[in-house]
Amino acid sequence: MPSLGRWGLPTALLTLLCCSGPAEITFEVDVWPEKLAVETSGSGRVNCSTTCTQPELGGLETSLTKQLVDQRPQWQQYLVSNISQDVSLICYFFCAGNSLTKTVHISVYQPPQQVTLKLRPIRVALGTAFTAECGVAAVKPLEGLTLTLQRGQETLQNWTSVEAAPARGEGSVTFNRTAQGGSGPLTFRCQAALDLRSKGGDVIYSVSEAQVLQVYEPVQDSQMVIIVTVVSVLLFLFVTSILLCFIMSHRKCQRQRGYYGVLEAWRRLPQAFRTQHV
Ligand SMILES: *[C@@H]1O[C@H](CO)[C@@H](O)[C@H](O)[C@H]1NC(C)=O
Ligand SMILES: *[C@@H]1O[C@H](CO)[C@@H](O)[C@H](O)[C@H]1NC(C)=O
Ligand SMILES: *[C@@H]1O[C@H](CO)[C@@H](O)[C@H](O)[C@H]1NC(C)=O
Ligand SMILES: *[C@@H]1O[C@H](CO)[C@@H](O)[C@H](O)[C@H]1NC(C)=O
Repeated sequence: MPSLGRWGLPTALLTLLCCSGPAEITFEVDVWPEKLAVETSGSGRVNCSTTCTQPELGGLETSLTKQLVDQRPQWQQYLVSNISQDVSLICYFFCAGNSLTKTVHISVYQPPQQVTLKLRPIRVALGTAFTAECGVAAVKPLEGLTLTLQRGQETLQNWTSVEAAPARGEGSVTFNRTAQGGSGPLTFRCQAALDLRSKGGDVIYSVSEAQVLQVYEPVQDSQMVIIVTVVSVLLFLFVTSILLCFIMSHRKCQRQRGYYGVLEAWRRLPQAFRTQHV
């Protein structure tokens, strides 16, 4: 067995490391952030970096307007602007004759504005149904939108698959509710939440103006019915009694006239006949 000699082992190791097969890629390319949510026509910063100590070349590949803000040998920071639609950008670095890339996903969003709430009807009896139509204009992406119906501080119901008129980026939900709790005015609001967390953003909230629903006791209604009935009956009795009274007084009159007739006849009798009988 031949001896490797004094430099045998290190040389063998070096030979193994340097010249075994195709050149190994020993660096990484990174990007921060990996996902970026940008408002329509907005801009965002992207940092492309590498672990390669002396990259030959590096940059950001995009057709969008970009500006190199700052750089060091191992990183470059860009400002990308006028982003009007979802897009992917590519960071690249060349190191020791090899190149690597990493992709940045940019999503464009439109925050919820003009959240509206319409109650129909605006006055209901306790325990009966009403609808609350919640709408939001110009919001993107709709799949990240949740519309929530709130009463005071309380969340009543939320809805994530918002019906949309995609062309206008509008969304609306009709909540079907029943007036509960008690009578009196109830204050409702609709909250729109656009969740951009899966796209590298935050949750953006917007709330409608308060709308008031007047709830009344249906008991009041039956009381009203009773009152109306009683008044009607009383009125009927009153009118009837007046009519009866009128008819009766008419008859009495006739009777009285009859009585006077007798008296008249009596008077007309001859004096003698009258004295005879008295
Ligand atoms: C860009 O990223 C690199 C590597 O993570 C970091 O060292 C550097 O500070 C970043 N530059 C800026 C401007 O944030
Ligand atoms: C922004 O982009 C739109 C189309 O994407 C283009 O028409 C417009 O000129 C651009 N504006 C600037 C300031 O680059
Ligand atoms: C929607 O409502 C459910 C309970 O009704 C709640 O657990 C959930 O967190 C709500 N979602 C949002 C986005 O408010
Ligand atoms: C309310 O009712 C209508 C019609 O029945 C239905 O289309 C709608 O999805 C309902 N809304 C909710 C939030 O359940």
